[in-house]
Amino acid sequence: MRVLITGASGLVGGTLARELTEHGHEVIPLTRRQLDLEHTEAIVPTLLEHHPDFIVHAAAVTQVDLCETQPELAYRVNWLATRQIRHAAQLLEVPLLYLSTDFVFDGQKGEYRELDPPNPLSVYGKTKLWGELETRVHPLHYVVRVSWVFGPGGRNFFSRIVTLLHEQRSLRVTYNQWSAPTYAPALARALRWILEHQPPFGIYHLAGEEVTTPFDLVSEVLQRLSCSCQVRRVSMSSLGRPAPRPRKTHLLNTALKALGITVPGYRTFLEEFVHATKPAEHGD
Ligand SMILES: NC(=O)c1ccc[n+]([C@@H]2O[C@H](COP(=O)([O-])OP(=O)(O)OC[C@H]3O[C@@H](n4cnc5c(N)ncnc54)[C@H](OP(=O)(O)O)[C@@H]3O)[C@@H](O)[C@H]2O)c1
Repeated sequence: MRVLITGASGLVGGTLARELTEHGHEVIPLTRRQLDLEHTEAIVPTLLEHHPDFIVHAAAVTQVDLCETQPELAYRVNWLATRQIRHAAQLLEVPLLYLSTDFVFDGQKGEYRELDPPNPLSVYGKTKLWGELETRVHPLHYVVRVSWVFGPGGRNFFSRIVTLLHEQRSLRVTYNQWSAPTYAPALARALRWILEHQPPFGIYHLAGEEVTTPFDLVSEVLQRLSCSCQVRRVSMSSLGRPAPRPRKTHLLNTALKALGITVPGYRTFLEEFVHATKPAEHGD
């Protein structure tokens, strides 16, 4: 299959591109250099030119606080660009898989199924939800919601904390936020399964099957490192970040489980990840 991936320099897009290439698919990995999604008028012509059989839209402004302070940027990239990508998928008559997030929920309930009503708290969550709604206009759509993705080479919460602990730095980490970390290579395998089997179109939750808090996660990382760092347990609200975060966003993979697909929890991969993550990988 000829698969076009946006956000191919990102953690999810890059890991998926490798997974698909290793399994014999032809991948068109688009990065910002080939297609800057802020230039929405360039999107349809670029996608038509590549005539893919399947489009995976993984690009987004993913920094939650940046979206809050620069909402115009988030609207443009996460929402309006997605509209153009959906339009191209419709013209090409090919399926579109859109990566979305647990942040479309308000985090009051926890344990979210695919058809639970979203209620995003932040600009990031809202613009990702609007991206979902744009995608769903196309009958051939998959909206795949993921949470707390970590993996080799990524710039994310996991790699940041592991790096800081390697550097013996002290941390303040929240204890009152729960979600399911998802290992990027395991996520990519499940996405490949969706591409190859094309189950019924619709919304899918795809998260690792173990839930934790940032504080518990850091404690588990500490057990695997010889580190004398001080880790302070703080509440989410005390960090004073621009964007509000949902408290409990455990995604239940109800639809995928019904198809026999399971996603291992983060503990299966933690040891390997902690030892593979080097200080140089850390980005802000
Ligand atoms: N990582 C998570 O924990 C998580 C959780 C829930 C949902 N998701 C969703 O999963 C998807 C993939 O996330 P990720 O973890 O791979 O994020 P990431 O590592 O931050 O990658 C985001 C990608 O989007 C690209 N991008 C941003 N602005 C762009 C623009 N104007 N034009 C073209 N490309 C642009 C980035 O390119 P540059 O490298 O050039 O900036 C990068 O390739 C996103 O849709 C995200 O909302 C991720």
